[in-house]
Order: sequence, then C-alpha cells, then structure tokens
Amino acid sequence: MRKKLIELAKEAREYAYAPYSNFKVGAAVLTSNGKTFTGANIENSSYGATVCAERVAVFNAVSAGEKEIVELAVVADTKELSMPCGICRQVLVEFSKDLKIYVANLDGKFIEKTLEDLLPMAFTRENLKGVKRNI
Ligand code: THU
Repeated sequence: MRKKLIELAKEAREYAYAPYSNFKVGAAVLTSNGKTFTGANIENSSYGATVCAERVAVFNAVSAGEKEIVELAVVADTKELSMPCGICRQVLVEFSKDLKIYVANLDGKFIEKTLEDLLPMAFTRENLKGVKRNI
C-alpha cells in the first residue's frame, strides 16, 4: 500500500494550485474501510487561506463519510524530504488512531513515520473532557 499511496500522491500533486510559492505538494490517504482519497495544496492570494495537500486529502475522505485515516503519503519535489506542517498534524490527530505516514520526494526517496512520532502528546477531544470550571 505504501507504493500505491505514494503513486497516488504524486498524481495528485499535478493538480496543486501553487502560483505563489511554486511549491507543489500531493497527498493520498487510506481509510479504515480500504478507500483512498487524494489532495493537493490549494493556495490563495490571501496567503492565510491556503490549504495544504494533507488537509485537502483528509477533508476529501471525511466529507465522503470516512472518519478514520490509517495511512498517509505526502510527496513534494525537494531534495530533503518535506514533512507535514503542524496544522496538518493536528488535523490528522482528529481522524486517526495509529497513523502510518510516508513522506517521499520525486526521486524515490522516502521515510516512514507514525503520527505519534510527528506529534507526541497531542491535544485531543479527551482533553476537552477534563475542564475543571465552565464560565
Ligand atoms: N504545504 C503543503 O501542502 N503541505 C505541507 O505539509 C507543507 C506546506 C504547502 C502549503 C503551501 O501551498 C506551500 O506548501 C508552501 O508552504
């Protein structure tokens, strides 16, 4: 599945809309039901409105009713591998339990990590239950 997801992420990268950074990223996710979804980064002239490839892929999955991501591949055209940003890591925590992450470039270089590696001690819905005082 690693190879397939990296291939899907490469294909999705072609659809990146990145006229400002010229930094194209593709992502592909596998859900617990065995379905795959892809995404590419979508930039905006109001830079803060940009959405990363990883989140586009996750939101594609979730908006199709898939709420658990089990594997993710991310591809960018960099010599050193380009890791998922912090906001995407937090979004991934919301929709995964034990997520495998493959980060690859176009030359065939890749690493495999877990989301726990990338975002240990994450804030989750469990923390919301721990509130001591409500205003
Ligand atoms: N980008 C992603 O798509 N994923 C990441 O994990 C890091 C950054 C995009 C956002 C923006 O369009 C461009 O890369 C440069 O930051």
